[in-house]
Amino acid sequence: MTDFNVAWARAQFPARAQEVNGHPAVFFDGPGGTQVPERVIAAMCDYLVHSNANTHGAFSTSRRSDEIIAGAHAAIADLLGCDADEVVFGPNMTTLAFALSHALARELRAGDEAVVTRLDHDANVAPWQALAERGAVVRAVDIRVEDCTLDMEDLARQINPRTRLVAVGYASNAVGTINDVAEAVRLAHAVGAMAFIDAVHYAPHGSIDVRALDCDFLACSPYKFFGPHTGVLYGKREHLARLRPYKVRPALEELPGRWETGTQNHEGLAGVRAAVDYLAELGRLCSPAATTRRAALVAAYEAIRRYERGLIQPLIAGLLEIPGLTFYGIRDPARFDQRTPTVAIRLAGHTPRELADFFGTRGIFTWDGNYYALNLTERLGVESTGGLLRIGLVHYNTAEEVERLLGALRELTLT
Ligand SMILES: Cc1ncc(COP(=O)(O)O)c(C=O)c1O
Repeated sequence: MTDFNVAWARAQFPARAQEVNGHPAVFFDGPGGTQVPERVIAAMCDYLVHSNANTHGAFSTSRRSDEIIAGAHAAIADLLGCDADEVVFGPNMTTLAFALSHALARELRAGDEAVVTRLDHDANVAPWQALAERGAVVRAVDIRVEDCTLDMEDLARQINPRTRLVAVGYASNAVGTINDVAEAVRLAHAVGAMAFIDAVHYAPHGSIDVRALDCDFLACSPYKFFGPHTGVLYGKREHLARLRPYKVRPALEELPGRWETGTQNHEGLAGVRAAVDYLAELGRLCSPAATTRRAALVAAYEAIRRYERGLIQPLIAGLLEIPGLTFYGIRDPARFDQRTPTVAIRLAGHTPRELADFFGTRGIFTWDGNYYALNLTERLGVESTGGLLRIGLVHYNTAEEVERLLGALRELTLT
């Protein structure tokens, strides 16, 4: 396996040509949505020019649409390690989670329980809290504030024989913590509960194997891993077939159609497939021996993880040297394999919005606020004072860009 070719990867992303006030744009906003490679844009345009139609018709554009949609299911199946009919597309992860919540509510009994966490994005909290309207008890697992990790002992405590669903994030979109999701699934299954994994933040950084994890559901959002604005829900076939989603009567009962309400974002699905193929090509460049797309994707993520690890180190070391800076999350280099390159800070004397504004004028795109990880910003006591500033890297970022951000911060704290 060769090293990751960052110049090749960067050249794929046309958005990188943008400038702000004469500064080349630095996209540290990946956890809110990544940029897309040229081939994704081309696939979406091509769909609209040559294949634009609704599905299951007796003419060429409709038949091509059917093929493109099937291709997107097959691509995500390779990405997640499942079968194509276990992949459900929708407008975004949040909508899919609410759809699943509606279906779960139909089989819940009063006194059933669900477990959520204080680390998660609200899209992995609110849909399950809504089950309380059907009499379910919803419990929240605490975090260890000192390093923003999930309190696994509390997770074990909150799960009991009445638990029907355990909802845990694969990685935190706010502070980058990667959770022990295999253990969460194991604890859920030990009491006969289902496990739902929100992999939205993890998907651009690490490979996912739903069979090895044995999770019951897993969701991700292609727009966070170099694709267009769409959402994905994986479900074990037995659950997708048993549960009753809300659907219109003429829609097919077969999988995954019964979960894909209405007309999908076909051009988006063409782009999803192209995004997966981009990652697979990156993998083949690093590991030419990868024969299947799945093997190439696993190789891509291995290379991406190694490369990103090399960015986390200087980023966190540099941040920790800034006077007045508070760092939230894992900072010990020996534990960097338990985090993504997404970090959260505050700086004395500046609100997160002021910091984001300051960076923004220098062409450095960061996020401020709670990024919908509301349980976490409340738990950390920062919600009423502007939340956090998030610096989120992906594999198209570089050490030079990290240095630009650190240089700007030094300039700010010296003036
Ligand atoms: C960890 C996490 N989960 C869920 C979501 C919601 O995803 P979507 O915008 O596809 O509904 C996000 C979006 O920021 C996220 O970061």
